[in-house]
Formats: sequence, structure tokens, C-alpha cells
Amino acid sequence: MPLATFASLSLFSLIFLSPATAAAKPASNSTYTNPILPGFHPDPSCIFVPELDDTFFCATSSFNAFPGIPIHASKDLQNWKLIGNVLNRESQLPELATVNSSTGGIWAPTLRYKDGTFWLVTTLVYDDYAQNDSSRWDNIIFKSSNPYHESTWSNPVHFDFNGYDTSPFWDEDGQVYMVGSHAWQVYPAIQIAKINLRTGATGNWTTLWTGTGGLAPEGPHIYYKDEMYYLMIAEGGTGLDHMETIARSPHLMGPYRANPANPVLTAANTTRFFTTVGHADLFQDASDNWWAVALATRSDASSDYHPMGRETILTPVTWKKGDWPVFDPVEGEMGGWPLPAQSWHIKGDGPWISDGDDIDFSLGSSLPRHLTYWRIPNPDAYAISPSDHPYTLQLNPSSANLTGINAKSAPAAGVSFLGRRQQDTLFTFSVDISYTPRSTNEEAGVTIFLQQNKHVDLGIVQLADNKPYLRVRGISTGADAVALPSYEAALPSAWVGQTLHLEIKAQNWTHYSLSAGPASARSQTRTLAYPVNSALSWGFTGTFVGIYATSNGGDGSTPAYFSNWSYIPQGQYVN
Ligand SMILES: *[C@@H]1O[C@H](CO)[C@@H](O)[C@H](O)[C@H]1NC(C)=O
Ligand SMILES: *[C@@H]1O[C@H](CO)[C@@H](O)[C@H](O)[C@H]1NC(C)=O
Ligand SMILES: *[C@@H]1O[C@H](CO)[C@@H](O)[C@H](O)[C@H]1NC(C)=O
Ligand SMILES: *[C@@H]1O[C@H](CO)[C@@H](O)[C@H](O)[C@H]1NC(C)=O
Ligand SMILES: *[C@@H]1O[C@H](CO)[C@@H](O)[C@H](O)[C@H]1NC(C)=O
Ligand SMILES: *[C@@H]1O[C@H](CO)[C@@H](O)[C@H](O)[C@H]1NC(C)=O
Ligand SMILES: *[C@@H]1O[C@H](CO)[C@@H](O)[C@H](O)[C@H]1NC(C)=O
Ligand SMILES: *[C@@H]1O[C@H](CO)[C@@H](O)[C@H](O)[C@H]1NC(C)=O
Repeated sequence: MPLATFASLSLFSLIFLSPATAAAKPASNSTYTNPILPGFHPDPSCIFVPELDDTFFCATSSFNAFPGIPIHASKDLQNWKLIGNVLNRESQLPELATVNSSTGGIWAPTLRYKDGTFWLVTTLVYDDYAQNDSSRWDNIIFKSSNPYHESTWSNPVHFDFNGYDTSPFWDEDGQVYMVGSHAWQVYPAIQIAKINLRTGATGNWTTLWTGTGGLAPEGPHIYYKDEMYYLMIAEGGTGLDHMETIARSPHLMGPYRANPANPVLTAANTTRFFTTVGHADLFQDASDNWWAVALATRSDASSDYHPMGRETILTPVTWKKGDWPVFDPVEGEMGGWPLPAQSWHIKGDGPWISDGDDIDFSLGSSLPRHLTYWRIPNPDAYAISPSDHPYTLQLNPSSANLTGINAKSAPAAGVSFLGRRQQDTLFTFSVDISYTPRSTNEEAGVTIFLQQNKHVDLGIVQLADNKPYLRVRGISTGADAVALPSYEAALPSAWVGQTLHLEIKAQNWTHYSLSAGPASARSQTRTLAYPVNSALSWGFTGTFVGIYATSNGGDGSTPAYFSNWSYIPQGQYVN
């Protein structure tokens, strides 16, 4: 689409995320674009590992997505490749299948590298009502010697802590400590304990700091610099009041003195386009310049349109000896420290963050690692290129639909869904589907999915008259429900038995369009509905686009065959 089409939208400028142009000259400051990990990539934790060829690695939260805890790697801080998922086998954490909460699952990981080993500490969070119950929080430690091979990520070691956002710290004498955020509705505080990372055995937890008075002190990390321990945390909750604050002490166990300049990073009370900024982590590059990553939402404070949720941004930090770190405010177009030279030399076959999809499900292929299920899938529901339908993904229906029994519950037999993150303000996602439902309420199609009570589906469904229909259903219930359009009409007779093309397009800043037509005659494509994306702009996660098949609780078992999966990035709004 021509840039000029959008130039008239004076509120926004459109940036096509293409590989950064020329490498910056070493001495001069760089310019780059945020977010660095667009789409549902919240709570970043990043490290620089000189020992592994000067590479940066980042982990982000994945909630109920499986595979989970994506690890992205980069040599230039701009081009990021998905090298693997820490949580890549059901046997590592079968409990993920039982999480009865759309906003539970894997929260805020911390990624660290020490003496040849990568450590990933995170929390599996259960029911969101049990704020007062330590059984809500399952804190876990994974390790790997080679994250380019995701199978090297271990099974987790569990440890006791009545809270979340746990982060390890190695003291100068080699002793390892864990800091974490004690359950915030019970006793909000940053606590610390000694820990044995191999066994999970902890010492007693003691409180280090309760923050500057903001809601929910969380996301702590400790850094040791110039004979001072710095404790950096997030406060204010992960919404518009989010902020990053810091305190320091010459002694690890405190007392910690707050930076008089707190918060060191926030977009609260501003009109910035990048809001909710906080939950940061700090690292140095090969030139010893400091950087921070944090989460942010692209949507000024007055906007309801942010379906991609919390994304990962990068900002330069100036941290002089003996001084407090000073963060640059977060914008779409940033200036800062010289970036390392552009490099595409990252091992592995994962996609780059700005890639689209063109997936043909050929015989012998496997699903790319950025495609995700919702909780742990039933493996029998998926087959690539079955012999009678080559170049398709066969999806057998789950009894549960995308909503499930209720908005929170984990269906025991899984849900037949496969998605990819919406990573672009504007995009077109499409698949072809060959599907003839045979039982009442059997349904298959495409979805824009945020969580069980917030999704929009375009499907082919058989209704009580035993005829196939085209149907658009918007589910938006619970907090901040938004009205969504629906559509239901008998499948045009000329389309019955044909392979259909189903398309989801982010047409502009506020609306999607949903279209269908015969795959062999694109000119007949009809746009059926324009759902507003504010219905999917909520909570801790971000939208997926993908496919589903369900019997809606009935007895149908007719498979759907999906082919020609395409996702085309068409632009980012960054200011
Ligand atoms: C989730 O909900 C189901 C149905 O209510 C219940 O059987 C199951 O025990 C719950 N799981 C957890 C981990 O609470
Ligand atoms: C909730 O937590 C508080 C503080 O730890 C405790 O005093 C109280 O007994 C707990 N309530 C329940 C119902 O567990
Ligand atoms: C931990 O606390 C308990 C109870 O207060 C105490 O008995 C124990 O000695 C403490 N352990 C350590 C290692 O400090
Ligand atoms: C934002 O403004 C409110 C109201 O004045 C104030 O209470 C809050 O501390 C401010 N937050 C930040 C991070 O400045
Ligand atoms: C380069 O960027 C850093 C970080 O934003 C800033 O502190 C410094 O002043 C900049 N230098 C120049 C020459 O602009
Ligand atoms: C989805 O499943 C729930 C629970 O079985 C059911 O109440 C609801 O009607 C289903 N949705 C559709 C569109 O059939
Ligand atoms: C986006 O498109 C929808 C559907 O055509 C339209 O109603 C809406 O006004 C558009 N929004 C903007 C910001 O252009
Ligand atoms: C697959 O879909 C894309 C995007 O709509 C389209 O350009 C392409 O022609 C399709 N390929 C086949 C083989 O149908």
C-alpha cells in the first residue's frame, strides 16, 4: 500500500519495519524504531552475552500460550530472531493445561547467563481470584547450555515463594539470591532469600523494599555497580500509572535508599503514544553503553485501541560512575547510543520478528516455532499434509470452542486452535479452508483471539437446518465489554463444497475487516464485518490471529483442512 494513503492521517506516521539501513558509524549516536519486539511480548528480560559472539538475548511473558517463554536473539539490537521457546514440551510443565484463568499462566520471566549456563526464572500463575493463596504461585527455574537448541531447556525446578516476578542475583562471593514480588493484595513488598538454583531450596524471605508508594511493587532486578547494590522495580500496576523506580544500598540486604529522582522511567501523566512504560531490565553492550528494555503499549492515554497489548521497547540509559541511571523517554523514533553493526548472523531457523508468514504445510514440514496453541494442545487434533489432503493442516474439532465452558476454564481435552501474534498495526492474515461440516453446531474458521471472553471468529458452521452457514461471532464479555458486529447467512450455494479463502485484515488503527470468498475466484470475496479492535484491547496479553475447529459441545468430529497460511505485515504506527 502506498505510503501516501496514510500520510493524510496526520495523527500517525507509518513506518515499515524493514531491516535497519546502514550500520551506524561507531562514534555517532544511532536512530532506531520502537517497539523492538512488536505484538504480545510483555515483561522483557534481556542480557548481553559477550562469550557467545556478542549476542543479546531476550525472554518475554507468554501467559497461556504454548510453546511459551519465547527467546529472541540479536547482534544489533534491531533485528531479532526467535531462536526457541523455553517451554517447548508438555512434560516440562503439564500444569499449564490446568490454568483456570485467561490472564494466568507464565508471568514475567527473568533471563540471566552465568558461567556457560542460561537461567530462566518465572512463575506459573493459577486462578486470578486466589490472591491470598500461596498455591496460586508456582515459581520455577529452567536452565540451558545452548538456547539455540530449545530441547536443551531443562524441566523446571520449583521453589517456594508466595509471589511472582522472581529474579536471581549472584553476589560477589558467589552466593545466589532470589528477589521477587510478594503477593500484592496480601503484603506488597520486594523480598529476598538465598537460593540453591539446582534444588530450589531457599532460605527465609525477608523484605528489602516496598517501593515509593505505588500500587504493586513488582518486577525487581538487582544490579551491582561501583560497590553499590541497585534494586530496580516496577510500580503503579501495569496500566497507565506504570513506572520504574530504583533504590540502592552498599549492602545487599539493605537498607535501600530511594532515588530522589524516581520514577526513572514512566509515561504516566503524559500524552506520549507509548504508554504503560515500565517493568524494565538493564544490560550493557560491547561498548559498555547501558540500555534498558521495558514493556509499553502503543496507544496514547486517551485511546481504547491497542489490541497488540504490551510490547517490548528499548531505550538508552546513561549511567555514570557512582550516579543513578538516567533513562531516555520512550518514543517510536529513538536516538541513542551507537548500535552494534547490523548483523543477520544468528543461528537457527526461527523467524525474524518482522517476518510475515507464507506457510504451505508441505509433507514432512513442521509448524514454525512462532505458531502457538492456547494452553497445551491435544496432539491428535493436528496433522500436517495427511495423505488424502497434501499441503494442508488437518484440524480436528475440539468439543470446547474458543470461549470454553466459561471465560476462565481450561478445557480438559484442549481447544483446537493455532495462532500467531498480531505484530503489526496493519496486516492481512488469510488461509484457505476446505471444510464441509456434517453435524449441528460443528464449526471451523479464523479468529482474532485475545482471550476466552474476548475474540472474534469468522467460521463455516452447520446450523439446526443441517445447512452450512457463514458466521461472524464477536465475543466480548466481562470487564470492558464492547459491542461487536455479527453476521450469519447461508453459505452461497455456488461456494458449497469449494475451498474458501478467509481473511482478517487490520484495515486501519481502529477496525479489522473479515472477508470470505471462493479461493479460486478472489473477485467474489465479500467483506462481512468490521469489528472494532477496542473489544480486544484489554488485560495483560495481546491478540493472536489464527484458525480453530470445534463441535461447540456437540458430537461432530469432521476435520477442517487449512492451506496457504499467509500473514503480510503492512505497517506500524509508532507515533
Ligand atoms: C479448573 O477448573 C476445573 C473446572 O471447574 C476444575 O475441575 C479444576 O480443578 C480447576 N483447576 C485448577 C488448577 O484449579
Ligand atoms: C490473607 O492473608 C492475610 C495476610 O497474610 C492473612 O492474615 C489472612 O488470614 C489471609 N486470609 C485468608 C482467607 O487466607
Ligand atoms: C527461618 O525462620 C525460622 C522461623 O522464624 C527460623 O526458625 C529459622 O532459623 C530461620 N532460618 C534461617 C536460615 O534463618
Ligand atoms: C500522575 O499524576 C497523579 C495525579 O496527580 C499522581 O498521583 C501520580 O503520582 C502521577 N504519577 C507519576 C508517575 O508521576
Ligand atoms: C548519545 O545518546 C546518549 C543516550 O541517549 C546520550 O546520553 C548522549 O548525549 C548522546 N550523544 C550525543 C552526541 O547526542
Ligand atoms: C461455546 O461453548 C459454550 C459452552 O459449551 C456454549 O455455551 C456456547 O454456545 C458455544 N458457542 C457457540 C458459538 O456455539
Ligand atoms: C476504520 O475503518 C472502519 C470501517 O471502515 C471505519 O468505520 C472507521 O471510521 C475507520 N477508522 C479510522 C480511524 O479511520
Ligand atoms: C496464498 O495466499 C496469498 C495471500 O492471499 C496469495 O497471494 C497466494 O496467491 C495464495 N497462494 C495459493 C497457492 O493459493
